[in-house]
Amino acid sequence: MTSEAVTFAASDKAARYSELLPQLRSLVDGEPDLIANLANIVAVLRECLPIASWIGFYIRRGDELVLGPFQGKVACVRIALGRGVCGTAAAEQRTVVVPDVARWVGHIACDAGSKSEVVVPIVRGGRTVAVLDLDSYELAAFDDLDAQHLGEVAALAATLAW
Ligand code: SME
Repeated sequence: MTSEAVTFAASDKAARYSELLPQLRSLVDGEPDLIANLANIVAVLRECLPIASWIGFYIRRGDELVLGPFQGKVACVRIALGRGVCGTAAAEQRTVVVPDVARWVGHIACDAGSKSEVVVPIVRGGRTVAVLDLDSYELAAFDDLDAQHLGEVAALAATLAW
């Protein structure tokens, strides 16, 4: 797949999401390298979701999550399982949608400008291997629609070479 093929014609989020999965599948198909695939998934998500200020993966290393491929400002490198939004999603294996990070006790602020967030766990064989984290400078940027479609992205990511 060529890089110019990654475009999103639709203006509304639901329609763009319908274009997302086929593009991602095509992008990772036949490429065995985990880091390359995660990096490209993040790049496509950035095109799909301009409302996001930061998009990236945290990869499970023992009892910690360690910063993986991302796009956005410099971020926290290590997050303990169970801590912050990322660590909670990882430990509880559930998607966490945070409409207002100021009201979510325990939120870890890597960028003081972030106002809302969604974190989706990537679970393979019952084990959390990573999380996908998106932040936004807008309040309530993410909702159930995002949780549903980003869950599909996480399911695709779970099939990669962890
Ligand atoms: N806010 C996250 C930390 C990671 S940054 O948003 C990139 C959390 O509370 O886990």
